Amino acid sequence: MSMIEWKDEFSVGIPDVDHEHQQLIGLINELHNAMSGKNAAMTVTDFLGEIHAHVAAHFALEEKIMREKKYDQYEDHKRDHERLLDEISDIMDDYEENAFYSDEVFTSTLEHWFSDHFKTRDARLHKHLGV
Ligand SMILES: [Fe+2]
Ligand SMILES: [Fe+2]
Repeated sequence: MSMIEWKDEFSVGIPDVDHEHQQLIGLINELHNAMSGKNAAMTVTDFLGEIHAHVAAHFALEEKIMREKKYDQYEDHKRDHERLLDEISDIMDDYEENAFYSDEVFTSTLEHWFSDHFKTRDARLHKHLGV
């Protein structure tokens, strides 16, 4: 079962960018499958670590483009990226310290952030820069 389903509200209105975000969500779902079920091939720690790394790589690419193009809202956009990475780190800490992890909490953290960030900051960025 998928952890996150693609929703129309995630769309930034640019097919290439939506495709990249769909791939990111696809990857999260694949990792989730590897971590859950009876024959789980991946620990919760590795699962969260991999997602943190892939999300960070996606952000690093966007931030590089913004710097190169001297994007006017770079700082604000980067801060919002850091907000999600911090939230994922908090979830990782919670697992390390309290052995607490909840699919529901993690899914809703990602979904809330995706539906806000994609349609506001990413949509503006890609329309503004045309990349
Ligand atoms: Fe993005
Ligand atoms: Fe972004």
